[in-house]
Amino acid sequence: MSIDLTAISITEEVQKTFDGAEDERVKELFTCLVRHLHEFTREVRLTSEEWFKAMDFLERVGKTCTPTRQEFVLLSDILGLSVLVDLIYHPGGGSVTDSTLLGPFYVEGRPTAKNGSDISGEVEGTPMFVNCRVLDSDGNPVVNAKVDTWHSDGEGFYDVQMQDKLHNHLAMRALLTTDAEGRFWYRSVTPLYYPVPTDGPCGEILRAAKRSPMRPEHVHFWLHADGFEPLITMLVRSDDPYLEHDAVFGVRRNLVADFVHHDAGETAPDGTRMNEPFQTVEWTFVLSRAED
Ligand code: BEZ
Ligand code: FE
Repeated sequence: MSIDLTAISITEEVQKTFDGAEDERVKELFTCLVRHLHEFTREVRLTSEEWFKAMDFLERVGKTCTPTRQEFVLLSDILGLSVLVDLIYHPGGGSVTDSTLLGPFYVEGRPTAKNGSDISGEVEGTPMFVNCRVLDSDGNPVVNAKVDTWHSDGEGFYDVQMQDKLHNHLAMRALLTTDAEGRFWYRSVTPLYYPVPTDGPCGEILRAAKRSPMRPEHVHFWLHADGFEPLITMLVRSDDPYLEHDAVFGVRRNLVADFVHHDAGETAPDGTRMNEPFQTVEWTFVLSRAED
């Protein structure tokens, strides 16, 4: 290693230290990362003060993380990195349903539910009836697909954000299974747009840039079926004020859905005559075959 380093030659010197990596991908990733990181540093002529600030910021991002709070993932989300990784492998625009962000509110221990059941848990709100089909790209039903769904309440809070109020119960989330026609359906409450957490270091970035922290109203889905690629996606409300201002860039044109308003007195999709206003969402998801 040369000890006559310059602000240019140091890049190659650092890159060479990865030559011995057994894993070629590790070598490629770090060599390229060092090139871009050094190029960035030279381009903006990063000052020592800014470097200290950046280290302090990253330290605080780490300290903000808990098993239910993923500040590093949020940093990736607000910088568009999470969606970029998804777009590279799932550019979308084809016949299969676009994928998008998982987000931090998916919970593995969610309850299973029968089609048609009410998954709202203890939570009150405007009833929402979700009726969907899952098809393959030839239009055939995907039978026995496992469908995770989760969403916020009518004030924009997920169950995991209000465990005191819910006495540690999970709500507004379930694992369903498609029937012989590829259908799944459930009742819940209508969600609302909500801000990503801004009380941690990522909030500082949003405020510094005068960026909106809001995510438009949406319902998450994670579909698995034998022989098909898993699909992580969400449906976003078409008339949401934040539709084109999502703080984490997760909206895809093909995932914009009508959340249809119905007045009290109308009949819900499950045949119930409703004595209060309600909403309905209908959608067809198309899965990609695993070998496609
Ligand atoms: C969500 O949709 O649940 C979400 C995604 C990214 C950051 C925060 C929330
Ligand atoms: Fe969400």
